Amino acid sequence: MPPFSSGQSGSSSCVSVLASIAKSGLKEGSFSCKIVSEDEVDSTNDVAREYAEKGAPEGTVILAQYQRQGRGRMMRSWSSPKGKNILLSLILRPSLRLEEVSLITVMSSVTVASLLREEGFHAFIKWPNDIYVEGKKVAGILTEMKSEKNEVKHVIVGIGLNVNMDSSECPEDIQKTVTSLAMLSGHLWDRTVLVRELLLQLEKTYEHLQNQEYDFLLSQWSRLSSLVGHWVEVKVSDKKWEGTVLGTDAKGALLLRREGGFIEAFLSGDVKILDRMSV
Ligand code: BTN
Repeated sequence: MPPFSSGQSGSSSCVSVLASIAKSGLKEGSFSCKIVSEDEVDSTNDVAREYAEKGAPEGTVILAQYQRQGRGRMMRSWSSPKGKNILLSLILRPSLRLEEVSLITVMSSVTVASLLREEGFHAFIKWPNDIYVEGKKVAGILTEMKSEKNEVKHVIVGIGLNVNMDSSECPEDIQKTVTSLAMLSGHLWDRTVLVRELLLQLEKTYEHLQNQEYDFLLSQWSRLSSLVGHWVEVKVSDKKWEGTVLGTDAKGALLLRREGGFIEAFLSGDVKILDRMSV
C-alpha cells in the first residue's frame, strides 16, 4: 500500500464506479471525498487501520466488494457474498476521551437504523451494534480504536449492510437469522446510492457527537432501540446478568435495572431478550 495521499481512488474498476458515484454531489472535505475502493481485501477494517496509521485523514472511507476474513464483534466472522452488500470502513479521529469512544458505536448504529427507517424499513438497534428488521439481522457494526498515552489516535467504524444478497448465499448456520434489503423489499437496491446516503448521514450524526450533543444521540438511540423496557440477559465472557433495560448512559453503556433496583452498566456483551416481545 502506498503512503496516503489525498484524492486516492480505487484500484478496481467496478468498485471505483461505486466510489465515483458515491462522491458525486458531495462537498469537499466530506467523508465521501476520500474513498478507497478495493475488489477483495481481508477486512476493510484492516485496510482502514493501515491507512490511518499512515496518516490518512478523518473521513477516509474504505469500500470492498469482498472480504476474505470479514470480522464481527467478539472474534466472530462476517460473511458476505461478493458484490452484493455494503462493506465499508470509515476512519475517524474524534476528540473524545477513551471512556467515551463507545459513543461512536451508538452514533453509527443510530445512523444505520435511521437510514433504513427513512427507506421504509422498520429497523431496530439491538445493543450495541446490531441492526434488525423483522426479527433478522440486516447490518452489523464493528468499532475498533487505537489509543496512545490515554489519547484516542483513531477509530475505525466498520459497517456491513446486507443489501442485495439472498440468505442462501450465507453459511448455513446463519441463514435463518439474517436478511437483506432485497429480501425484505422484493427488489434489488442501488448500492452506490445507499453508500452515498449512508456517508452523508454518518457525517451529520458525527457532527452531533463532535458538538457534544450526547443527549440528542442517546435519545435517538432509545427511540430506535429494541431493548428499552425489555427483560434481558447480558452475557460477558462466561458470566450472565439479567435485568430490565433502561437505556444507555452518557458513554453508550447499556443500563440494566437488576432485581432489587440496583443499576448496572455494561460497555460490552451479548444481549438476549428473555420476555415475550422479541426482535
Ligand atoms: C458484528 O455484527 O459483529 C459486526 C460486523 C461488522 C462487519 C463489517 S463489514 C466491514 C467491516 N470490515 C470487517 O471486517 N468488519 C466490518
